[in-house]
Amino acid sequence: MLVLLAGIFVVHIATVIMLFVCTIANVWVVSNVGNASVGLWKNCTNTFCSETLSYASEDALKTVQAFMILSIIFSAISLLVFVFQLFTMEKGNRFFLSGATMLVCWLCVLVGVSIYTNRYANSYGTNYQWQYHHGYSYILAWICFCFSFIIGILYLVLRKK
Ligand SMILES: *[C@@H]1O[C@H](CO)[C@@H](O)[C@H](O)[C@H]1NC(C)=O
Repeated sequence: MLVLLAGIFVVHIATVIMLFVCTIANVWVVSNVGNASVGLWKNCTNTFCSETLSYASEDALKTVQAFMILSIIFSAISLLVFVFQLFTMEKGNRFFLSGATMLVCWLCVLVGVSIYTNRYANSYGTNYQWQYHHGYSYILAWICFCFSFIIGILYLVLRKK
């Protein structure tokens, strides 16, 4: 029981870190030509990141940014609530509040990554339509999608011993 809780705690911290990293790292789609990549904020070439994403002003991108930031916030809140409940909650209760908050985080990742996949994940930019692959940020985001769901459900199911 304690081992399980400790395991979830570690995976939860990892999920918060991965969400943070994948949101700020501009490596969602990588060009096969050179080391260039694009993310949620910038278009990066070999040596530097310029500000100019060709679709920077589109509402869809701003929505993805907003939902990824929300997902970081909710996963962090859920972690704090879990620690708080660990010390204050009566034995036998479920970690309902942290579970519910983590599932909200899961929904945010779901919306953000779905919109990104639909609109942006399938091209690097105008000049390189076919020469791209998904970067580690994009993969991390989908891993977080799975982890946040599993963590959320486990919190709802587990009782404090
Ligand atoms: C990123 O920069 C490259 C090179 O300037 C350009 O071809 C590409 O269209 C840009 N991608 C985006 C999404 O702005």
